[in-house]
Amino acid sequence: MPAKVALLRSEFLGLNEDVPLRDGRRLVYVNFDNAATTPPLKAVVNAINALLPWYSSVHRGFGYKSQLSTGIYNRARDYITRFFGADPGKDLVIFVKNATEALNKLSYRLRTRRGQVILASRMEHHSNDLPWRLKRKTLFTELTPDGRLDLGDLENKLKNNQVALVTLCGASNVTGIINPLRTIAEMAHYYGATFLVDAAQLVPHRPLHLRSGEAPDFIAFSGHKLYAPFGAGVLLGPATAFTKGFPELTGGGTVAAVSKTRILFAPPPEREEAGTPNLIGAYAVAKALQWLQEHDFPALATYEENLTKYAYNRLATVPGIHLYGPPPTVTPRVGVITFNLEGIPHGLVAAALAYEAGIGVRHGCFCARPYVHHLLRLSPEAITTYEEQIAAGKKQDLPGMVRVSFGFYNTREEVDRLIAALFFLREEEEKIKKSYRVNPLTGEYRPPGEDYQVRLDRHRESFFL
Ligand SMILES: Cc1ncc(COP(=O)(O)O)c(C=O)c1O
Repeated sequence: MPAKVALLRSEFLGLNEDVPLRDGRRLVYVNFDNAATTPPLKAVVNAINALLPWYSSVHRGFGYKSQLSTGIYNRARDYITRFFGADPGKDLVIFVKNATEALNKLSYRLRTRRGQVILASRMEHHSNDLPWRLKRKTLFTELTPDGRLDLGDLENKLKNNQVALVTLCGASNVTGIINPLRTIAEMAHYYGATFLVDAAQLVPHRPLHLRSGEAPDFIAFSGHKLYAPFGAGVLLGPATAFTKGFPELTGGGTVAAVSKTRILFAPPPEREEAGTPNLIGAYAVAKALQWLQEHDFPALATYEENLTKYAYNRLATVPGIHLYGPPPTVTPRVGVITFNLEGIPHGLVAAALAYEAGIGVRHGCFCARPYVHHLLRLSPEAITTYEEQIAAGKKQDLPGMVRVSFGFYNTREEVDRLIAALFFLREEEEKIKKSYRVNPLTGEYRPPGEDYQVRLDRHRESFFL
């Protein structure tokens, strides 16, 4: 491993933990599930540890520690606003718990005129689909057969409807495809729509700028996908969106005055952050972004881009593999690759990688079912059949894929381990298929023997001693 990569790895916590395998051996864990959650940065954990002795109430007290805590909370807000090239005079960071809450918040708070609609797409995570679909009239931009946004359809829908908001993922959590945000922002703004980017998968992988760059009006993202796992997320956008109307959560912190007869809401951001703020989470997000800034974020992005191309090319050599989405050499993608191995259920592939090789991946539909249906080319009848199966409580043999997703700390050596494990799985396919058992209620595959489970249970209990 090049010295530079080794140095980079030393910045992260928990990269050298070994985990048990089915046969009793242990191997250093390979985490290829970064699109779900990333490990923490040491810089973030150290900063939190340094803050904890000073940790106190935010906005609620006047002792020294309270003033300090409030100052740090507000400074984190300011740091994040500037990091994304937003205008501190006009734009506002609202701290929430994750991207899902950020997207929900805007779905409650966005003011629209009669007849206006929301325009999302078929490639969205459920968190950028359901909040809109359940509250607003929502249209969906269609996709090309290989899973990119159909920009012609997007423009037609903008032209033929009164679109209040275009809301799209910056990068997909299924294919890693990076949407052409600048072009879309121009289109949305030309037709008078506001543009929200669900940046949960983009912020941890690529620089993004509000006012001068890609130009979305709002962005939403989570700290736990950004090496800052302390329960905070961000909604960033124009403050004017939050100056009228009621916040979706009310109570302490949201009001300036309350009497028997009158409620006077506080100005944003306080109005939008009900209850005691998550100082630790907010500070962690700011420190993670600061780390990116101090470690040449564009160079890190290039490293990950090359790793993704390397992995994609190596994966393409596995017999019977089907890779989804256009290759990263053709369409820019963050480090997310999904695939299936012909003849082997995706759940069994994921289980075999964990139990035989100590590699953590995710499988299934990744909370983006309409997109996965599209990529798998499922017919409406097939979708209905499997939805009925789920409704009946059976989760065996459901459609899905295997996903590997990278962080800046992953290496070519780790990718090589994945490829070797997939070749092994191909060679031992019949044996593994015969010996692993699937639980029809959960769809989870398990190898024979109890050793692994015993070790896992013991490890869990050790955290409660
Ligand atoms: C594109 C995208 N949007 C939204 C979310 C939701 O993020 P969270 O679960 O942190 O709220 C995810 C999570 O995987 C995601 O990938």
